[in-house]
Formats: sequence, structure tokens, C-alpha cells
Amino acid sequence: MSDARPNSRLPGFYRTPLPDRQAELARQAGLSPEELALFASGGISAAEADRIVENAVGVYALPLGLGLNFCINGVDRLIPMAVEEPSVIAAASNAARMARAGGGFAAEADESIMSAQVELREVADAAAASAAITAARAEIMAMADRALPELLQFGGGYRDVAVRELPDRRLVVHLHIDCQDAMGANMVNTVAEALAPRLAELACARIGLRILSNLADQRVVCASTQVPLAALAGSASDGSAVSGAELARAIEEASRFAEDDPYRAATHNKGIMNGVDPVVIATGNDWRGIEAGAHAYAARDGRYRPLSTWRVAGDALVGRLELPMAVGTVGGTLKAHPGAQLALRILGVTRARELAEIIASVGLAQNLAALRALAGEGIQRGHMALHRRAVGEG
Ligand code: MEV
Repeated sequence: MSDARPNSRLPGFYRTPLPDRQAELARQAGLSPEELALFASGGISAAEADRIVENAVGVYALPLGLGLNFCINGVDRLIPMAVEEPSVIAAASNAARMARAGGGFAAEADESIMSAQVELREVADAAAASAAITAARAEIMAMADRALPELLQFGGGYRDVAVRELPDRRLVVHLHIDCQDAMGANMVNTVAEALAPRLAELACARIGLRILSNLADQRVVCASTQVPLAALAGSASDGSAVSGAELARAIEEASRFAEDDPYRAATHNKGIMNGVDPVVIATGNDWRGIEAGAHAYAARDGRYRPLSTWRVAGDALVGRLELPMAVGTVGGTLKAHPGAQLALRILGVTRARELAEIIASVGLAQNLAALRALAGEGIQRGHMALHRRAVGEG
């Protein structure tokens, strides 16, 4: 990153020619010409791809754009977004501009706790097994930390154990591990495999599966925004002007629709993931894990619900999003993917929790953009007009 603070408010950026946009990115993020050129080839070479996957034959690139106008926890961010869907980046930037009028986004992520699941089968006495495992807390902690010595050096490691009873004489033991800045899949799987024999012994049971859970409900991030009503003003489907207050009420109604109907909630959440996934992908993280976690979390009380809600409060529209966010800034694919490393530099983040807070804010902005378009002029007219404007057709 260059020394200057990033400025995410770049009016008319979409209208400037591609080389000028690249030059602005290089200036703000302190990228060398070689680093900038990396993005022209998809951020990764075929030789690098060959070190990541099996049977590699090449690379497959996505468009990479910058989400603008984002101020998150008081800091401006340029948001690298890798996505194939037109209008997503324009819509997120447009909504972030409205949110900016009220101070932008506030976000807070939990500690980076991932859970390993050890399934125990043919448990003779569930209550006795549970008690034995709970009584062996200190031993479990020592074994888990021994399995991950490097993580301990970085301040992470074992945090807790929980036992859940399942039908058919099964128990599942959750081992909670603080993975610090790593996504942590390999770490928690290592712990699960290291501890399974001892847990089975304690429970007088047979070992079942040993694997992380993507329902990362100990690793949740919350993002919120208070958009001044005046900043929301727009137009209706017939092109007539609509006040910000009217659109805010319509957005609240759209939120309530999703809260009452799982069919709508699925589409509402898809709109959120339109913002989440492009940043997860650009930063080299596991978007299938994020998707699995988000939708499982949305259904955690037995009914599928929207991950965000919107309400009018005084002279602002208040939005709040909550979802699991198991992302890392070290390890995994990141090590081998130069484009992902550059995306983190563009964002100016080194800590996983900070990255999670940014991603959730982009998801909330994307959701606001979709609901405002749906509540007002309609998605075809609204979003596609943004897209045409962004590509210079309108
Ligand atoms: C389209 O990719 C996403 C939307 O359907 C989201 C929504 O309906 O809220 C517009």
C-alpha cells in the first residue's frame, strides 16, 4: 500500500478509460507495473495453477473490478471484486455512496474460531460419555495444542469443547480452535484426527467422521449501516421521482417479505452473496465454504430466513447483516496465488477479522442496492441502467 490513505470516493471512475483506472489503482495501492500486469493475465500463471490443482491445463479468469465509495469502520477501502455478473460492482458502489452519506458501514467480527467435529458411534451411555469428555478438558486442550504448535505461537489454539447428542447412539464432539488469520480448515481437520482416538476411548465408542463444520457459528460477522433517507431518493418504474422516505419504507417492506417467506429469503440472500462472493474469490478464499455457512446459518432455527434486515428508524434506513465468515489472510491458496495476495494489498488488510468485516459490509451494500432497485424502478431498469452507464452505453 502507498503511504497516502486510500480514497474510495472516485466520482466518474467508471467513465475514465481502463488504463487510467489501472493507473489510479496502482497509485493508491502502490502496485508496480509488473504487479498491475498480473491482473491482465488473471492474477495467476498456468505454472502457478499447476502447483495448486491436479491435472492442471491452464487458468480460467473472471472480470476484476473495484467497488468504490466504501467507508468501513471509518476507513476508506478500494474493494477488489471478481465477478461475471454485470451491474454487481456498479450497484454495490452506488449503495456504498448512499451509505457513506451516513458515515458508511460499521462492522465487527468474532474471534476466528472454527469447529472440528468428531463423530462418535455406538456410544454405550451418552450421559457418561459426555461427562467423561467434559472432565478431560485439560487433557483435550493439551493434545489439541500439541497438534498445532505453530498456531500457538501466533496466539491461536484450542479454546473449548462441546458435546452434542445425536440419534442412533451417536455423539458429536466439537473442538473450537482459534485459527487467527488462517481460514483454518487444515488446522481443525488435523486436530479432529489427532484427538479422535482419545475421544472414542473416553466415550467407549467407535470413531466416525472427523472434519470441520462449515456452519461457522462461532465466527460470525455483523455489519450495519444507517443511510440518511434523503440519500435514498430515486425513481419509480414509470421514471417518476420517489422520495428517499418512500423508498426506505418500500425497502423495509421488502425486508419483511423476506422475513416471512423462505422463497423470497433465498433470493434476498443471493443478492447479499452477490457482494460477498466476489471479494471472497478475489482474496483467494473458499467461497463454497462461505456459501455453505451462510445458508446453514440462515436456516439455523429450522426455517430459512434472510441474513439481513432493514428498518426505518427516524430519518435513516438502518440495515444489519449477520453471517458466518470463515476467511483467511494467510495460508491455503493465498500462498500460491499472486493475484489474491495483491487483492489483499489493495484492500489494505492483513488480519482475517478485518477482511471479514469488509466482506460483510460489501454484502450489505449489495443487498441495499438490490432492494432499492426492486422497491423502486425495478431490477431490469435500475441495475441494467447502472450497467449500461458503467460500460458507457447510456
Ligand atoms: C440478482 O443477481 C440478485 C437479486 O435477485 C437480489 C434480490 O432479489 O434481492 C436482484
